[in-house]
Amino acid sequence: MGLSANQWGRRSWGVFPGGSLGEYNLPPELSIVLSHGQGARVYDTEGNEFIDYTMGWGSVILGHAHPKIIEAVDRQAKRGSNFSYVSEPALRLAEELVRAVPCAEKVRFCASGTEATMYAVRFARAFKKRDKIVKFEGAYHGGNEFGAISLFPQELLDFPTPNPTSAGITKALCSEVLVAPYNDLETTSRIIAENASDIAGVIVEPLHRCTTPLPGFLDGLREITRKHGILLIFDECVTGFRLAYGGAQEYYGVVPDLAALGKALGGGFPVGAIVGRADILDLCDEADLGREKYVWFASTLGGNPVTAAAALATLEELRRPGTYEHLFAMGEGLRNGFRVILSAKGIAAQVLGDGPLCALSFTDEKVIDYRTAFRADRAKGRAFALGLFRNGIFLNPMSTKLYLSLAHGDEEIRAIHSVGRKVLGEISS
Ligand SMILES: Cc1ncc(COP(=O)(O)O)c(C=O)c1O
Repeated sequence: MGLSANQWGRRSWGVFPGGSLGEYNLPPELSIVLSHGQGARVYDTEGNEFIDYTMGWGSVILGHAHPKIIEAVDRQAKRGSNFSYVSEPALRLAEELVRAVPCAEKVRFCASGTEATMYAVRFARAFKKRDKIVKFEGAYHGGNEFGAISLFPQELLDFPTPNPTSAGITKALCSEVLVAPYNDLETTSRIIAENASDIAGVIVEPLHRCTTPLPGFLDGLREITRKHGILLIFDECVTGFRLAYGGAQEYYGVVPDLAALGKALGGGFPVGAIVGRADILDLCDEADLGREKYVWFASTLGGNPVTAAAALATLEELRRPGTYEHLFAMGEGLRNGFRVILSAKGIAAQVLGDGPLCALSFTDEKVIDYRTAFRADRAKGRAFALGLFRNGIFLNPMSTKLYLSLAHGDEEIRAIHSVGRKVLGEISS
Protein backbone atom coordinates (compact mmCIF):
# COMPACT_ATOMS: atom_id res chain seq x y z
CA MET A 1 0.00 0.00 0.00
CA GLY A 2 1.01 3.62 -0.38
CA LEU A 3 1.57 5.51 -3.59
CA SER A 4 4.85 4.72 -5.24
CA ALA A 5 6.14 3.76 -8.65
CA ASN A 6 4.91 0.22 -9.12
CA GLN A 7 4.74 -2.36 -11.86
CA TRP A 8 1.26 -1.23 -12.92
CA GLY A 9 2.41 2.35 -13.42
CA ARG A 10 5.49 1.18 -15.31
CA ARG A 11 3.32 -0.92 -17.63
CA SER A 12 1.15 2.13 -18.27
CA TRP A 13 4.13 4.21 -19.28
CA GLY A 14 5.20 1.37 -21.57
CA VAL A 15 2.11 1.61 -23.75
CA PHE A 16 0.42 4.96 -23.07
CA PRO A 17 2.09 8.27 -23.98
CA GLY A 18 2.42 10.11 -20.67
CA GLY A 19 1.31 6.91 -18.91
CA SER A 20 -2.36 7.86 -19.18
CA LEU A 21 -5.40 7.81 -21.46
CA GLY A 22 -4.92 11.54 -21.90
CA GLU A 23 -4.74 14.85 -20.06
CA TYR A 24 -3.62 13.79 -16.59
CA ASN A 25 0.06 14.65 -16.63
CA LEU A 26 0.80 12.76 -13.43
CA PRO A 27 4.43 12.21 -12.54
CA PRO A 28 5.52 8.56 -12.93
CA GLU A 29 5.44 7.89 -9.17
CA LEU A 30 1.75 8.80 -9.07
CA SER A 31 0.81 6.81 -12.15
CA ILE A 32 -1.55 4.39 -10.51
CA VAL A 33 -3.86 2.02 -12.33
CA LEU A 34 -7.46 1.82 -11.20
CA SER A 35 -9.11 -1.47 -10.49
CA HIS A 36 -12.68 -0.42 -9.66
CA GLY A 37 -14.97 2.25 -8.35
CA GLN A 38 -17.94 2.31 -6.01
CA GLY A 39 -20.06 5.34 -5.19
CA ALA A 40 -17.73 8.31 -4.69
CA ARG A 41 -14.63 6.14 -4.34
CA VAL A 42 -12.11 4.54 -6.69
CA TYR A 43 -9.53 1.88 -5.83
CA ASP A 44 -6.19 1.17 -7.44
CA THR A 45 -4.59 -2.17 -8.21
CA GLU A 46 -2.48 -1.92 -5.04
CA GLY A 47 -5.55 -1.61 -2.83
CA ASN A 48 -5.36 2.15 -2.23
CA GLU A 49 -8.69 3.91 -1.79
CA PHE A 50 -9.31 7.40 -3.18
CA ILE A 51 -12.25 9.75 -2.87
CA ASP A 52 -13.03 10.55 -6.46
CA TYR A 53 -13.35 14.25 -7.26
CA THR A 54 -13.28 13.86 -11.01
CA MET A 55 -15.97 11.19 -11.44
CA GLY A 56 -15.01 10.21 -14.98
CA TRP A 57 -14.58 13.91 -15.80
CA GLY A 58 -18.12 14.52 -14.71
CA SER A 59 -19.67 11.66 -16.66
CA VAL A 60 -20.61 9.59 -13.61
CA ILE A 61 -23.02 11.95 -11.89
CA LEU A 62 -24.87 9.22 -9.96
CA GLY A 63 -21.67 7.66 -8.61
CA HIS A 64 -19.67 4.62 -9.69
CA ALA A 65 -21.43 1.28 -10.21
CA HIS A 66 -24.86 2.75 -9.45
CA PRO A 67 -27.35 -0.14 -9.12
CA LYS A 68 -29.95 1.52 -11.37
CA ILE A 69 -27.42 1.90 -14.17
CA ILE A 70 -26.07 -1.63 -13.73
CA GLU A 71 -29.60 -3.00 -13.94
CA ALA A 72 -30.52 -0.92 -17.03
CA VAL A 73 -27.28 -1.75 -18.85
CA ASP A 74 -27.47 -5.43 -17.99
CA ARG A 75 -31.07 -5.65 -19.21
CA GLN A 76 -30.26 -3.87 -22.47
CA ALA A 77 -26.93 -5.61 -23.19
CA LYS A 78 -28.78 -8.93 -23.19
CA ARG A 79 -31.07 -7.54 -25.90
CA GLY A 80 -28.27 -6.23 -28.14
CA SER A 81 -25.58 -3.59 -27.74
CA ASN A 82 -25.69 -1.71 -30.98
CA PHE A 83 -27.84 -1.48 -34.07
CA SER A 84 -26.70 1.88 -35.51
CA TYR A 85 -30.40 2.43 -35.98
CA VAL A 86 -33.28 3.84 -33.95
CA SER A 87 -34.05 1.58 -31.02
CA GLU A 88 -36.69 1.97 -28.35
CA PRO A 89 -34.28 3.32 -25.70
CA ALA A 90 -32.73 5.79 -28.17
CA LEU A 91 -36.15 7.07 -29.16
CA ARG A 92 -37.30 7.40 -25.56
CA LEU A 93 -34.08 9.24 -24.71
CA ALA A 94 -34.42 11.68 -27.60
CA GLU A 95 -38.02 12.40 -26.58
CA GLU A 96 -36.85 13.07 -23.03
CA LEU A 97 -34.16 15.47 -24.29
CA VAL A 98 -36.79 17.40 -26.22
CA ARG A 99 -38.89 17.60 -23.04
CA ALA A 100 -35.96 18.58 -20.83
CA VAL A 101 -33.70 20.94 -22.77
CA PRO A 102 -35.25 24.31 -23.70
CA CYS A 103 -33.64 24.67 -27.17
CA ALA A 104 -34.16 21.03 -28.15
CA GLU A 105 -36.69 20.53 -30.94
CA LYS A 106 -34.72 17.75 -32.63
CA VAL A 107 -31.84 15.47 -31.63
CA ARG A 108 -28.95 13.60 -33.23
CA PHE A 109 -26.76 11.30 -31.17
CA CYS A 110 -23.03 10.68 -31.43
CA ALA A 111 -20.58 9.07 -29.01
CA SER A 112 -18.64 11.95 -27.43
CA GLY A 113 -18.70 15.63 -26.59
CA THR A 114 -15.93 16.26 -29.11
CA GLU A 115 -18.17 15.01 -31.90
CA ALA A 116 -21.21 16.85 -30.55
CA THR A 117 -19.51 20.27 -30.67
CA MET A 118 -17.91 19.42 -34.03
CA TYR A 119 -21.32 18.66 -35.53
CA ALA A 120 -22.92 21.70 -33.88
CA VAL A 121 -20.35 23.93 -35.57
CA ARG A 122 -20.82 22.10 -38.88
CA PHE A 123 -24.58 22.64 -38.67
CA ALA A 124 -24.02 26.34 -37.98
CA ARG A 125 -21.66 26.72 -40.94
CA ALA A 126 -24.04 24.90 -43.26
CA PHE A 127 -27.12 26.77 -42.09
CA LYS A 128 -25.52 30.20 -42.39
CA LYS A 129 -23.33 29.32 -45.39
CA ARG A 130 -20.44 31.04 -43.60
CA ASP A 131 -17.10 29.61 -42.44
CA LYS A 132 -15.96 31.46 -39.33
CA ILE A 133 -16.84 30.69 -35.76
CA VAL A 134 -16.18 32.63 -32.57
CA LYS A 135 -14.86 30.77 -29.55
CA PHE A 136 -13.68 32.07 -26.18
CA GLU A 137 -10.07 31.96 -25.12
CA GLY A 138 -9.43 29.06 -22.76
CA ALA A 139 -12.69 27.27 -23.63
CA TYR A 140 -12.57 23.54 -24.20
CA HIS A 141 -14.97 22.02 -26.67
CA GLY A 142 -13.25 18.64 -27.00
CA GLY A 143 -10.24 17.50 -28.97
CA ASN A 144 -11.52 18.74 -32.34
CA GLU A 145 -9.67 21.56 -34.10
CA PHE A 146 -11.51 24.55 -32.69
CA GLY A 147 -11.56 22.91 -29.24
CA ALA A 148 -7.76 22.85 -29.26
CA ILE A 149 -7.35 26.38 -30.64
CA SER A 150 -6.52 28.97 -27.95
CA LEU A 151 -7.24 26.35 -25.29
CA PHE A 152 -4.15 26.80 -23.11
CA PRO A 153 -2.34 29.58 -25.00
CA GLN A 154 1.00 30.36 -23.40
CA GLU A 155 1.43 33.45 -25.54
CA LEU A 156 -1.43 35.92 -25.22
CA LEU A 157 -2.12 37.33 -28.67
CA ASP A 158 -4.37 40.26 -29.52
CA PHE A 159 -8.01 39.24 -29.93
CA PRO A 160 -9.34 37.71 -32.17
CA THR A 161 -6.09 36.02 -33.32
CA PRO A 162 -6.24 32.23 -32.76
CA ASN A 163 -3.35 30.36 -31.21
CA PRO A 164 -3.34 26.56 -31.62
CA THR A 165 -2.62 24.66 -28.42
CA SER A 166 -1.93 21.51 -30.44
CA ALA A 167 0.43 20.88 -33.29
CA GLY A 168 -1.27 19.46 -36.36
CA ILE A 169 -3.87 22.18 -36.67
CA THR A 170 -3.53 23.78 -40.08
CA LYS A 171 -3.32 27.50 -40.71
CA ALA A 172 -6.47 27.19 -42.81
CA LEU A 173 -8.41 25.82 -39.82
CA CYS A 174 -7.03 28.52 -37.54
CA SER A 175 -8.09 31.20 -39.99
CA GLU A 176 -11.72 30.13 -39.52
CA VAL A 177 -11.72 30.73 -35.76
CA LEU A 178 -12.02 34.12 -34.10
CA VAL A 179 -11.05 34.15 -30.44
CA ALA A 180 -12.82 36.42 -27.96
CA PRO A 181 -12.40 37.09 -24.22
CA TYR A 182 -15.07 35.42 -22.07
CA ASN A 183 -17.15 37.83 -19.99
CA ASP A 184 -16.04 40.80 -22.09
CA LEU A 185 -19.16 41.66 -24.01
CA GLU A 186 -17.73 44.85 -25.43
CA THR A 187 -14.72 43.21 -27.12
CA THR A 188 -16.79 40.22 -28.21
CA SER A 189 -19.44 42.50 -29.72
CA ARG A 190 -16.76 44.43 -31.59
CA ILE A 191 -15.24 41.21 -33.00
CA ILE A 192 -18.68 40.02 -34.06
CA ALA A 193 -19.70 43.36 -35.58
CA GLU A 194 -16.44 43.62 -37.57
CA ASN A 195 -16.76 40.09 -39.00
CA ALA A 196 -20.51 39.53 -38.92
CA SER A 197 -20.97 38.61 -42.56
CA ASP A 198 -18.37 35.81 -42.26
CA ILE A 199 -19.47 34.35 -38.91
CA ALA A 200 -21.71 31.28 -38.75
CA GLY A 201 -21.88 30.88 -34.99
CA VAL A 202 -20.57 31.68 -31.54
CA ILE A 203 -19.78 28.67 -29.37
CA VAL A 204 -19.56 29.16 -25.63
CA GLU A 205 -19.34 27.08 -22.49
CA PRO A 206 -22.05 28.96 -20.57
CA LEU A 207 -20.07 28.27 -17.40
CA HIS A 208 -16.61 28.78 -18.85
CA ARG A 209 -14.55 25.96 -17.26
CA CYS A 210 -15.42 26.95 -13.65
CA THR A 211 -15.71 30.71 -14.31
CA THR A 212 -19.24 32.01 -13.91
CA PRO A 213 -20.78 34.39 -16.46
CA LEU A 214 -20.98 38.01 -15.32
CA PRO A 215 -24.53 39.34 -15.15
CA GLY A 216 -25.75 40.12 -18.65
CA PHE A 217 -22.94 38.33 -20.51
CA LEU A 218 -24.94 35.38 -21.84
CA ASP A 219 -28.02 37.55 -22.48
CA GLY A 220 -25.75 39.97 -24.32
CA LEU A 221 -24.35 37.16 -26.48
CA ARG A 222 -27.89 36.06 -27.29
CA GLU A 223 -28.84 39.61 -28.25
CA ILE A 224 -25.82 40.34 -30.41
CA THR A 225 -25.91 37.00 -32.24
CA ARG A 226 -29.61 37.51 -32.95
CA LYS A 227 -28.98 41.06 -34.14
CA HIS A 228 -26.36 39.88 -36.64
CA GLY A 229 -28.19 36.71 -37.69
CA ILE A 230 -25.49 34.46 -36.20
CA LEU A 231 -26.21 31.18 -34.40
CA LEU A 232 -25.52 30.80 -30.69
CA ILE A 233 -24.21 27.38 -29.66
CA PHE A 234 -24.01 26.34 -26.02
CA ASP A 235 -21.45 23.65 -25.27
CA GLU A 236 -23.37 21.97 -22.46
CA CYS A 237 -21.14 18.92 -22.18
CA VAL A 238 -20.31 19.95 -18.60
CA THR A 239 -23.37 22.00 -17.66
CA GLY A 240 -26.05 19.75 -19.21
CA PHE A 241 -28.10 17.97 -16.51
CA ARG A 242 -25.64 19.37 -13.97
CA LEU A 243 -26.54 23.02 -13.37
CA ALA A 244 -30.21 22.11 -13.76
CA TYR A 245 -32.13 19.27 -15.38
CA GLY A 246 -32.47 21.50 -18.46
CA GLY A 247 -28.81 22.52 -18.23
CA ALA A 248 -27.28 25.99 -18.30
CA GLN A 249 -29.96 27.24 -20.67
CA GLU A 250 -32.57 26.55 -18.01
CA TYR A 251 -30.32 27.75 -15.18
CA TYR A 252 -29.29 31.05 -16.78
CA GLY A 253 -32.51 31.52 -18.74
CA VAL A 254 -30.78 32.03 -22.09
CA VAL A 255 -31.82 29.73 -24.93
CA PRO A 256 -29.27 29.06 -27.71
CA ASP A 257 -30.02 27.85 -31.22
CA LEU A 258 -28.02 24.64 -30.79
CA ALA A 259 -26.48 22.80 -27.86
CA ALA A 260 -23.94 20.01 -27.52
CA LEU A 261 -24.47 17.47 -24.74
CA GLY A 262 -22.26 14.71 -23.37
CA LYS A 263 -20.74 13.53 -20.08
CA ALA A 264 -23.44 13.26 -17.35
CA LEU A 265 -26.11 12.39 -19.90
CA GLY A 266 -24.54 8.98 -20.57
CA GLY A 267 -24.19 7.89 -16.94
CA GLY A 268 -20.58 6.91 -17.66
CA PHE A 269 -21.20 5.42 -21.11
CA PRO A 270 -19.98 7.00 -24.37
CA VAL A 271 -22.44 9.69 -25.34
CA GLY A 272 -22.85 12.89 -27.28
CA ALA A 273 -25.90 14.69 -28.58
CA ILE A 274 -26.61 17.71 -30.71
CA VAL A 275 -29.95 19.28 -29.90
CA GLY A 276 -31.57 22.43 -31.15
CA ARG A 277 -33.82 24.12 -33.65
CA ALA A 278 -35.55 21.73 -36.05
CA ASP A 279 -34.89 23.94 -39.09
CA ILE A 280 -31.13 23.62 -38.42
CA LEU A 281 -30.95 19.95 -37.44
CA ASP A 282 -33.19 18.93 -40.33
CA LEU A 283 -30.29 19.85 -42.64
CA CYS A 284 -28.92 16.35 -42.04
CA ASP A 285 -32.03 14.62 -43.39
CA GLU A 286 -30.53 12.19 -45.89
CA ALA A 287 -33.30 12.93 -48.37
CA ASP A 288 -31.41 16.19 -48.94
CA LEU A 289 -28.14 14.50 -49.91
CA GLY A 290 -26.67 16.50 -52.76
CA ARG A 291 -28.57 19.68 -51.86
CA GLU A 292 -26.56 22.80 -51.07
CA LYS A 293 -27.00 22.87 -47.28
CA TYR A 294 -27.03 19.13 -46.67
CA VAL A 295 -25.03 18.20 -43.55
CA TRP A 296 -23.32 14.83 -43.44
CA PHE A 297 -23.98 13.17 -40.10
CA ALA A 298 -23.25 9.56 -39.15
CA SER A 299 -22.16 7.77 -36.01
CA THR A 300 -21.71 4.01 -35.63
CA LEU A 301 -22.22 4.13 -31.87
CA GLY A 302 -24.37 7.26 -31.57
CA GLY A 303 -27.68 6.43 -29.91
CA ASN A 304 -26.57 2.89 -29.10
CA PRO A 305 -29.17 1.23 -26.89
CA VAL A 306 -26.84 0.44 -23.98
CA THR A 307 -25.81 4.08 -23.60
CA ALA A 308 -29.42 5.12 -24.10
CA ALA A 309 -30.54 2.73 -21.35
CA ALA A 310 -27.84 4.08 -19.00
CA ALA A 311 -28.89 7.62 -19.90
CA LEU A 312 -32.57 6.95 -19.25
CA ALA A 313 -31.70 5.44 -15.86
CA THR A 314 -29.50 8.46 -15.05
CA LEU A 315 -32.18 10.95 -16.02
CA GLU A 316 -34.79 9.10 -13.97
CA GLU A 317 -32.60 9.45 -10.89
CA LEU A 318 -31.85 13.11 -11.65
CA ARG A 319 -35.59 13.85 -11.92
CA ARG A 320 -36.13 12.80 -8.29
CA PRO A 321 -37.29 15.74 -6.18
CA GLY A 322 -34.46 17.48 -4.35
CA THR A 323 -31.64 16.26 -6.62
CA TYR A 324 -30.41 19.68 -7.68
CA GLU A 325 -30.96 21.25 -4.25
CA HIS A 326 -28.71 18.51 -2.89
CA LEU A 327 -26.03 18.89 -5.59
CA PHE A 328 -26.02 22.67 -5.12
CA ALA A 329 -25.90 22.47 -1.33
CA MET A 330 -22.88 20.16 -1.56
CA GLY A 331 -21.19 22.46 -4.05
CA GLU A 332 -21.76 25.47 -1.78
CA GLY A 333 -20.40 23.53 1.17
CA LEU A 334 -17.33 22.46 -0.79
CA ARG A 335 -16.54 25.98 -2.03
CA ASN A 336 -17.34 27.76 1.24
CA GLY A 337 -15.22 25.33 3.25
CA PHE A 338 -12.25 26.07 1.00
CA ARG A 339 -12.85 29.82 1.37
CA VAL A 340 -12.76 29.51 5.16
CA ILE A 341 -9.54 27.46 5.06
CA LEU A 342 -7.83 29.83 2.61
CA SER A 343 -8.76 32.90 4.59
CA ALA A 344 -7.65 31.33 7.89
CA LYS A 345 -4.29 30.58 6.31
CA GLY A 346 -4.08 34.00 4.63
CA ILE A 347 -3.63 32.42 1.18
CA ALA A 348 -4.64 34.51 -1.81
CA ALA A 349 -6.90 32.33 -3.94
CA GLN A 350 -10.23 32.39 -5.71
CA VAL A 351 -12.71 29.58 -5.25
CA LEU A 352 -14.54 29.18 -8.53
CA GLY A 353 -17.51 27.19 -9.73
CA ASP A 354 -21.25 26.87 -9.43
CA GLY A 355 -23.59 23.99 -8.65
CA PRO A 356 -21.68 20.76 -8.06
CA LEU A 357 -18.41 22.14 -9.51
CA CYS A 358 -15.44 23.76 -7.85
CA ALA A 359 -11.92 24.90 -8.73
CA LEU A 360 -9.22 26.87 -6.93
CA SER A 361 -7.13 29.55 -8.59
CA PHE A 362 -4.21 30.94 -6.61
CA THR A 363 -4.53 34.66 -7.27
CA ASP A 364 -5.83 37.67 -5.39
CA GLU A 365 -7.47 38.91 -8.57
CA LYS A 366 -11.11 38.06 -9.38
CA VAL A 367 -11.05 35.39 -12.10
CA ILE A 368 -13.38 36.33 -14.94
CA ASP A 369 -11.66 34.83 -18.01
CA TYR A 370 -8.61 32.92 -19.25
CA ARG A 371 -6.19 35.81 -18.76
CA THR A 372 -7.09 36.46 -15.13
CA ALA A 373 -6.73 32.72 -14.49
CA PHE A 374 -3.46 32.64 -16.44
CA ARG A 375 -1.98 35.27 -14.12
CA ALA A 376 -2.61 33.02 -11.10
CA ASP A 377 0.19 31.05 -9.46
CA ARG A 378 -0.28 27.96 -11.63
CA ALA A 379 2.73 26.16 -10.11
CA LYS A 380 1.02 26.41 -6.73
CA GLY A 381 -2.20 25.12 -8.31
CA ARG A 382 -0.39 22.06 -9.60
CA ALA A 383 1.37 21.48 -6.27
CA PHE A 384 -2.02 21.66 -4.54
CA ALA A 385 -3.62 19.19 -6.97
CA LEU A 386 -0.73 16.73 -6.69
CA GLY A 387 -0.77 17.12 -2.90
CA LEU A 388 -4.45 16.20 -2.81
CA PHE A 389 -3.76 13.24 -5.09
CA ARG A 390 -0.94 11.98 -2.86
CA ASN A 391 -3.32 12.16 0.08
CA GLY A 392 -6.13 10.07 -1.34
CA ILE A 393 -8.13 12.51 -3.49
CA PHE A 394 -8.46 11.29 -7.05
CA LEU A 395 -8.59 14.20 -9.50
CA ASN A 396 -7.22 15.43 -12.79
CA PRO A 397 -4.33 17.75 -11.97
CA MET A 398 -4.43 19.31 -15.43
CA SER A 399 -8.03 20.39 -15.27
CA THR A 400 -8.20 21.10 -11.50
CA LYS A 401 -12.00 21.09 -11.80
CA LEU A 402 -13.57 19.16 -8.96
CA TYR A 403 -16.76 17.30 -9.82
CA LEU A 404 -19.28 16.22 -7.20
CA SER A 405 -21.78 13.43 -7.78
CA LEU A 406 -24.92 12.27 -6.03
CA ALA A 407 -22.75 9.68 -4.27
CA HIS A 408 -20.80 12.41 -2.46
CA GLY A 409 -21.91 13.62 0.94
CA ASP A 410 -20.70 15.40 4.06
CA GLU A 411 -18.08 12.74 4.76
CA GLU A 412 -16.36 13.21 1.39
CA ILE A 413 -16.52 16.99 1.70
CA ARG A 414 -15.05 16.92 5.22
CA ALA A 415 -12.30 14.64 3.91
CA ILE A 416 -11.21 16.92 1.06
CA HIS A 417 -11.27 19.95 3.37
CA SER A 418 -9.13 18.18 5.90
CA VAL A 419 -6.62 17.01 3.26
CA GLY A 420 -6.79 20.43 1.59
CA ARG A 421 -5.97 22.20 4.86
CA LYS A 422 -2.90 19.99 5.31
CA VAL A 423 -1.70 20.37 1.72
CA LEU A 424 -2.25 24.14 1.68
CA GLY A 425 -0.16 24.33 4.86
CA GLU A 426 2.64 22.35 3.19
CA ILE A 427 2.72 24.26 -0.09
CA SER A 428 2.49 27.68 1.52
CA SER A 429 5.09 27.24 4.24
C1 LIG B 1 -17.10 21.73 -22.19
C2 LIG B 1 -16.62 20.46 -22.84
N1 LIG B 1 -16.97 20.22 -24.11
C3 LIG B 1 -16.60 19.10 -24.77
C4 LIG B 1 -15.81 18.16 -24.12
C5 LIG B 1 -15.38 16.93 -24.88
O1 LIG B 1 -16.09 15.81 -24.48
P1 LIG B 1 -15.50 14.34 -24.80
O2 LIG B 1 -14.29 14.18 -23.94
O3 LIG B 1 -16.65 13.44 -24.46
O4 LIG B 1 -15.18 14.29 -26.24
C6 LIG B 1 -15.42 18.37 -22.80
C7 LIG B 1 -14.57 17.36 -22.11
O5 LIG B 1 -14.01 17.56 -21.08
C8 LIG B 1 -15.81 19.56 -22.15
O6 LIG B 1 -15.43 19.82 -20.89
